[in-house]
Amino acid sequence: MANLIVVGSQWGDEGKGKIVDLLASEARVIVRFQGGSNAGHTVITKRGTFIFHLVPSGILYRGKLCVLGNGVAIDPGGFLDELDGLSAQGLKVGRNLVISHRAHLIMPYHKAIDRAAEEAKGARRIGTTGRGIGPAYVDKMARIGIRVGDLLNPQAFKRKLQENLVEVNSLLRHIHKTNGFQVDKIYTEYMSYAKRLKGYIGDVPLLLEKAMKKADPILFEGAQGTHLDIDFGTYPYVTSSSSCAGGACIGTGVGPTKIDAVLGVTKAYTTRVGGGPFPTELTDDIGENLKAKGQEFGATTGRARRCGWFDALLLRHAVRVNGLTSLAVTKLDVLDGFKELKICNGYRYNGKLYREMPSDLEMLTKCTPVYERFPGWKSETSGMVSYKSLPIEAKRYLSRIEELTGCPIDMISTGSRREHTIVLKNPLGPIKKPSRSRK
Ligand code: GDP
Ligand code: IMO
Ligand code: MG
Repeated sequence: MANLIVVGSQWGDEGKGKIVDLLASEARVIVRFQGGSNAGHTVITKRGTFIFHLVPSGILYRGKLCVLGNGVAIDPGGFLDELDGLSAQGLKVGRNLVISHRAHLIMPYHKAIDRAAEEAKGARRIGTTGRGIGPAYVDKMARIGIRVGDLLNPQAFKRKLQENLVEVNSLLRHIHKTNGFQVDKIYTEYMSYAKRLKGYIGDVPLLLEKAMKKADPILFEGAQGTHLDIDFGTYPYVTSSSSCAGGACIGTGVGPTKIDAVLGVTKAYTTRVGGGPFPTELTDDIGENLKAKGQEFGATTGRARRCGWFDALLLRHAVRVNGLTSLAVTKLDVLDGFKELKICNGYRYNGKLYREMPSDLEMLTKCTPVYERFPGWKSETSGMVSYKSLPIEAKRYLSRIEELTGCPIDMISTGSRREHTIVLKNPLGPIKKPSRSRK
């Protein structure tokens, strides 16, 4: 297996970072293709805990090339802080990281507009991460975005900034009744970032083509999840990028014919951060228990994640719109000790039963989930590495997930550490012991 896309199958935070880190041992190139520092991907190894926002989760290995494609929205200050943080953890990043010169920059005014727009929405707020993601992609589509490559041309950068600030300042001052921005201040700040960033900027389609010619395996690391996708998610409670598998091609410059497989990462239950519909949400003690056992607090904003039962409709939609070839089920250990487990396999709305994910927001908000019930297991699965040792109830639960989604499970994660994983089949080929890891 050569080129694999890894995507979130739910509402983000499925454990993509952990799975990508593990698979990265067999890849040569690891590429982020969308999103920005709204992402928080946690990787836990013997040397410590790493939370990646922009840097691909393959960075912990020697000899790997990590890439940020054109589809990623780059906050240059945040990115450099992330590199400094990694350096403080003993990890030097140099020529092993490349940023596409076509990637768009997040500007300070994007964050200000993000915050102001959320405030103006009141109860209808999306609950964004406040990282300026939506407004940055708005500018990209409006063809007024400033790109990473513009940092290399100070005059062009300044002209674009001057032009943009006319409208931005009018919006912020007159509509949102807040402060505007000064050209010179942003210009000076971004030119100082340019000095440090210029060594990382490169032609991503070209270097990925070279990698493919050498048959170097490429791992595409999705951020967010299918149901936060701008088209296929629970719109408008979504992020502003294409977090589905198709985004990997658009966000890197690799054609669809070059993709060999798509792995969907899903929790053994469901979580969501921020606003929006969540049919299987549990607002009772069971939900609190999942939150406490799963330590369900956002890796980027620290917000508590909403928790609920596994929803097969979410997953069937994810299998469909991503063309998933297999699943990685994470956090199975969090379900240890539950007396009874439930899987949603239908929504009831206005007296009708729906078996597939509707796109209508009202239906998603008001429907009642229809559950299948399963006996829980008493023994611990935490840290298990062999499928054979799993309790029979856990095996039944997992095989029902396979049946209901129509997608085989390749990997089962039983703990947050790299080694706490059952690999039934490696979508990239045999997994070697991660001995080449620096961490
Ligand atoms: P991502 O955004 O998809 O990379 O996921 P996050 O890192 O935001 O959230 C997943 C959280 O679950 C992190 O704290 C991981 O360390 C943790 N995690 C991942 N897999 C497992 C698992 O199998 N069991 C447990 N208990 N924790 C896990
Ligand atoms: P990872 O990659 C979970 C959610 C926010 C909000 C919505 C829009 O770690 O899985 P945005 O700031 O993107 O405009 O916010 O999307 N969101 C995430 N939820 N995991 C993420 O990333 C997320 N990135 C954005 O909470 O509801
Ligand atoms: Mg996360």
